Amino acid sequence: MQKQFIQNGPSRLTKSHSSTFVKTAILTFLCFISISLTKAANSVIIPVETAHNTLLLQTDADNHLLMTYFGTKLADASEYKLISTQNNQKDVNAGIFNHAFTPAGTWNLVEPALSITHADGNISTELIYVSHKTEQVNDNVKILSILLADPVYKTEVTLYFKTYIKEDVVEQWSVIRNNEKGPLNMQKYASANLSFIAKDYYLTHFHGGWGREMKPEQTLLTHGIKTIDSKLGTRANLFEHPVFIMSFDKPAAEDEGKVLLGTLAWSGNFRMDFEVDAYHNLRLIAGINPFQSEYPLAEGTEFKTPSFIYTFSDKGTGEASRQLHRWARNYRLMDGNGSRLTLLNNWEATYFDFNQEKLVKLFADGKKLGVDLFLLDDGWFANKYPRNDDFAGLGDWEPNVKKLPDGISYLVKEAGKAGIKFGIWVEPEMVNPKSDLYEKHPDWVIRQTERPEHYFRNQLVLDLTNPEVQDYVFGIMDNLLGKNPEIGFIKWDCNSVIFNAQSAYLQKTKQKQSQLYVDYVHGLYKVLERVRAAYPVVPMMLCSGGGGRVDYEALKYFTEYWPSDNTNPLERVFIQWNYSYFYPAIASCNHITDWSKVGLKYRTDVAMMGKMGYDIVVSNLSENELKFSQQALKTYDSLKDLIWHGDLYRLASPDENPYASLMFVNENKTKAVVFNYVVTNRFDVTYSPTPIRLNGLDASKKYRIQEINLYPGTTTTLNASAVFSGDFLIRNGYNSEMNLLRTSVILEVTAQ
Ligand code: DGJ
Repeated sequence: MQKQFIQNGPSRLTKSHSSTFVKTAILTFLCFISISLTKAANSVIIPVETAHNTLLLQTDADNHLLMTYFGTKLADASEYKLISTQNNQKDVNAGIFNHAFTPAGTWNLVEPALSITHADGNISTELIYVSHKTEQVNDNVKILSILLADPVYKTEVTLYFKTYIKEDVVEQWSVIRNNEKGPLNMQKYASANLSFIAKDYYLTHFHGGWGREMKPEQTLLTHGIKTIDSKLGTRANLFEHPVFIMSFDKPAAEDEGKVLLGTLAWSGNFRMDFEVDAYHNLRLIAGINPFQSEYPLAEGTEFKTPSFIYTFSDKGTGEASRQLHRWARNYRLMDGNGSRLTLLNNWEATYFDFNQEKLVKLFADGKKLGVDLFLLDDGWFANKYPRNDDFAGLGDWEPNVKKLPDGISYLVKEAGKAGIKFGIWVEPEMVNPKSDLYEKHPDWVIRQTERPEHYFRNQLVLDLTNPEVQDYVFGIMDNLLGKNPEIGFIKWDCNSVIFNAQSAYLQKTKQKQSQLYVDYVHGLYKVLERVRAAYPVVPMMLCSGGGGRVDYEALKYFTEYWPSDNTNPLERVFIQWNYSYFYPAIASCNHITDWSKVGLKYRTDVAMMGKMGYDIVVSNLSENELKFSQQALKTYDSLKDLIWHGDLYRLASPDENPYASLMFVNENKTKAVVFNYVVTNRFDVTYSPTPIRLNGLDASKKYRIQEINLYPGTTTTLNASAVFSGDFLIRNGYNSEMNLLRTSVILEVTAQ
C-alpha cells in the first residue's frame, strides 16, 4: 500500500508535469486570495468588544460566520477589516475550521457545535449569516444577537453574546429554533464555539473526587481533541469541575501572559472539547454534554442552551480572576456585593447524634463564640425510618419527634432567645429507599424498574422532570420557610449522582428518556426560581457532598458554596486557592473544624480567606482557644468587607513554594490584608528566607504593616512601627518571617 501511494504521489510527476502542477497551484492560490480580498470588502464584520478585548466575527464569501480574532483590542478599529486578509488557512478540501457555530453533515469535517436530525430524517445542517442586532441593556451591558439559518431546512440558530464591558466578561449562549414542519432531534447543541490562533495552547483543568476537589492539571494541547466533561447527572462536578484556564503561547502565569478563564453555567452534565486542528488553531466547543441526551425540538419551538462565561486577560491569571470575581459579585452570585453570616455548624461536632436539649446548648455556645448563626445539619427529620445515619429517612421531611419533640419552630425560638440566628440543612432532591416517600412514590424516583438499584451514599435521586416532584421539593422549602420565616440560612445538599437514568414521568408522558439529564436540570432551576420568588433574601449555601455542584447558574440562587468536606486546613489552602481562580472569596464557605490536629490559629487563619464559619465542639475549647476564637471573630469582622468585596492578588502558589501567600486590597488601595501559610511538614529554620512581593497597592502611598490574629500569649517578631512605600512592597516585597512557630501569618496593611 505504502509503495503504491509513493508511486502515485507527486514524486512520480515528470519535471514538466511538476512545474505545471506548481504553477496551477500558485495561480489557484493567488486567485483565491484576490477573491477573498474582494469579498472581504463586502463581508459583515461584527466586533464583540469589552473594555480591553475583542472577539471578531466576520462573514466569508459564502456568508458563513467565522471567528477571525480573539484577544486584546486593536488600537485602531478600522483595521479589523484587515484581519481576515492576513489569514491564509483556507483549504477548500478541509472545510472551515473557525466557523462561529459549526454545523454537522454538510461541509464540516471537524467537531461540530450542532448536530441535528431534521423532521424528514436528513442529518445535514448548514448555517448562513442572516442578520444581527445589539440591545444596550445599560451603560455596562450589551447583548449582541446574530441570526444564522439553514438555507434548505428552516432551522435557525441565534448566537447571543452578552458583554459586561468593565469586567471584560462575555456570556455566550445559543438558541436553536425549529421552524420546520414537524419535530427535529438535536444530537449536539453547544452553547459556544470559539476559535483561537496562538503558538501553543496550555489547558489547566480541575479534576477531583470526594474530599479532594479542584486539583489542577496543566497540559500542552496536541493535535486532536482533549475533552473535559461530566456524565454524573447530579453532583455533576465530583470528578471534573466545569471550569478551565487556557493559556496562549506559554503556560499560565499569575501576572503576565494571555489567558482565558472559562466556565459553563450548568448544574448537570457538561462537555468542553478543546480541538487543535490541522492548522494548529484551537477550536473550543462548550455546552451540555450530548451523552445520552438527544433532545427533541417540536415544530415552532426553541431551545436555549446554558451560558458559557469567559474572560480574557493579557496580564495573566490574576487579572483574569479579578475580572471574573467582579462580574460574579456585580451580576451573578446572589447578593454578591452584600454581607454574609458567620456560623457554627453541628455536622462534624455531633453528626446524627443530637436532640433539642443538646442543640439549645449549642446555640448558647455559638453565642458565646460570637458567630451570627447556628446551622443545624443532617439528621433532624423522619419518623417511620428515623434519620439516625445516612441509610434511612431521606425524603421524609417532618422533624423527628424523638430528637425534636417541639419541632423546628421551637428551635428557631430558642435560638432567638439565645441571641443567635437559626439555619437548617436540607437535601430535597434525594431519597433513601428506606423512607416513607420511596414506599409511597416509587415512580418519583429515577431508577430502572427491571434492574437492580445502585446507590450513592445509600440514596437515589428524585425525578425533577416530573412537575409533581417539583411541587414536592418546592413544598419542602415552602413548609420550612413559610412556617418559620425567621429561618436565617439554608444549606442545600445533594449527595448522589444519577445511576440507572430512567424517568417514569417521561415514559408516562411519552417523552424521550434522553431528555432526562437536561430536563432534570431545568426542573431544578424551576424549583429554585419558585423558592427565590417566595423567599428572595434568605442566604443559601450550595453544597453537594462537598464541592460536587459549584457553577454560575446555580449561584444565581445561592449566596455561597461549600468547597469540600475536607476541612484539613493544609488541604484547604490548596482547595480554596484553586477555587479562587473562578469564584470570589465572599462565596467560599470555609469552616474551622477538628478534622486535623493542626493548631487552631492556623485553622482559623485559613478559614478567614473566605466566608468564615465553625464546625467544632465549642465546649471542648481551652480557655485560650476560646479567647483566641472570640477575638478572631472580631478581627474577621473588621476585615470581612475587604475579603468579601476587595480584589484578590495571589502572591505565592502553594504548588510552587513551601508556603502560600495571597492578599485582598480595597478599591482605593488604602487597606489590604495578606494571608501567609506554610504548606509543608518538612523541617526548615525559616520558610520565608526572602520577601514576598505584594501586589495591588498604590506605589506612591506609604503603608504600615501589622501582624494580626495573634494567639494569646504570643507576640509578633515583626516591627510594628515600620512604614514602607507601596513601591518598596511591590518591588522588593515584605518578609512575614514564617518559621516552625509561625506557620500562618496574617498582615494588615494600612495606608498612612
Ligand atoms: C455532605 C455535606 O458536604 C456535609 O457538609 C454534611 O452536610 C453532610 N452531607 C450531611 O449528610
